[in-house]
Amino acid sequence: MSANLDKAPTWPQARFLSLSQTLLGFSLQVKIFGLVVGSLVLLGTWVSFHTRTTLQVSLTQQLDDRAISISRDLSARSTDLILTNNAFTLHQLARDTLENNKDVRYVFILDSWGRILAHTFGDHFPEGLLEANSAAPQQRYHLEVISTEEGLIHDVAVPVFEGKAGMVRVGLSEKGIQQVLNDATRDGILATAFFALLGTLAGFLLTRILTRPLQELVEVARAVGSGDWRRKARIYAPDETGLLAEAINEMTDKLAHAQEVRSQLLKKVISAQEEERQRLARELHDETSQSLTALILGLKALGDSTPGEQVKARTGELRDQVSRTLEEVRHLALELRPSTLDDAGLAAAIRRYILDYSHKCHLDVDLHITGLEEKRLDWEIETALYRIIQEALTNVARHSGGQNVSVVLEGREDSITAIVEDDGQGFNVEETLSAAPRQQLGLFGMKERAALIGGTLTLESSPGKGTTVFVKIPL
Ligand SMILES: Nc1ncnc2c1ncn2[C@@H]1O[C@H](COP(=O)(O)OP(=O)(O)O)[C@@H](O)[C@H]1O
Ligand SMILES: [Mg+2]
Repeated sequence: MSANLDKAPTWPQARFLSLSQTLLGFSLQVKIFGLVVGSLVLLGTWVSFHTRTTLQVSLTQQLDDRAISISRDLSARSTDLILTNNAFTLHQLARDTLENNKDVRYVFILDSWGRILAHTFGDHFPEGLLEANSAAPQQRYHLEVISTEEGLIHDVAVPVFEGKAGMVRVGLSEKGIQQVLNDATRDGILATAFFALLGTLAGFLLTRILTRPLQELVEVARAVGSGDWRRKARIYAPDETGLLAEAINEMTDKLAHAQEVRSQLLKKVISAQEEERQRLARELHDETSQSLTALILGLKALGDSTPGEQVKARTGELRDQVSRTLEEVRHLALELRPSTLDDAGLAAAIRRYILDYSHKCHLDVDLHITGLEEKRLDWEIETALYRIIQEALTNVARHSGGQNVSVVLEGREDSITAIVEDDGQGFNVEETLSAAPRQQLGLFGMKERAALIGGTLTLESSPGKGTTVFVKIPL
């Protein structure tokens, strides 16, 4: 038996689950709105219905009581008239009873043989009415509700002189009751509609008051999520939404602070790294290269001054080896940090780097530099742009599979832009950036470097369409 509990939900359970999922899926606005208006309509309908039924019961009871009392009164007053066979006055009595009592539809009086002595129908006495009700001699009265084409009639039969003289019959129509009930129902529906309208208005205001701060919080969270640390949530009221806004503001303050600390730290690490590279490159260039050059010269002098072909050949070999080492050391120094970058500036360093790069990677590089000749920028900006272009070009060589690269470096009064564009296979930027961080440190590094000097870096790429790295740094 218990195994059944683990099984998939039964049909009504599944229906209930999917229904509650649908209801929960509506926005807060719709939920509150629906709750307020729904409750009002439900309450109004219930009150209308309840009033109608209670009223119906009590009015019907009253109608019956009146029918009985009118009939009994008529019976008492007609006894003598039947016994003295006074047909005229009986007629008069029947007519008066009809006219003086509200809701009375008809009156008729029978003799002890069941023959009609007087009635209020004019020429046509309805068929079947006579047999529709009757009272035994010992009964005080007998009530029957008769269904006619005019609606329900409450018919009361009362024996006259214990049936020895005859019987009176009086019929009261329910029409009056129906009228009252219809009026009451109409009033109920109107009141419900009015209050539902009022509720709609109240619901609208309530949801606005409630959801406005929430919507603002959503906007703030989105803005902060996309890097706008200064965005603050407005506090509308000191209620729960206000507390939430306050908590979110506190959180963004802390995040902004942590971000600031991280940026400063990163800046420091990067500049320390660059300084170290600069120092190493200088040392390699100045000290090591000098020593190696001296060694080459020494070897040449040794070869020249020493007789014997064997020694000459050996020193020649050694000289070639040292020359290659010198070339490697120079290349290493260049890779670490080209002295051109510090001595001649960004434009010259990029030109120098690309010459080396296109040769080494067998790529056709189209380079355009404008507005930067003889212009020196901040050390940080030059370094950052150099490293960004270097990483972008390394990526082209490693990943793009393309043949042509275009590098544009443009200096303006207030900004500097760099564009590196290849005609390779491209990649899905969003997918790559949201993968595990280890796999796109190069791309993040480029973005971070641009951000640290107040700039922006945009990647445009889609599979099969090549890649463009676009950097803009305000000056
Ligand atoms: N120019 C490019 N063309 C094609 N794919 C690229 C290009 N640049 C980057 N990518 C893709 O983005 C990924 C992340 O690049 P990156 O962060 O530099 O890391 P890494 O170069 O160490 O793989 C690369 O592995 C590659 O798939
Ligand atoms: Mg890379």
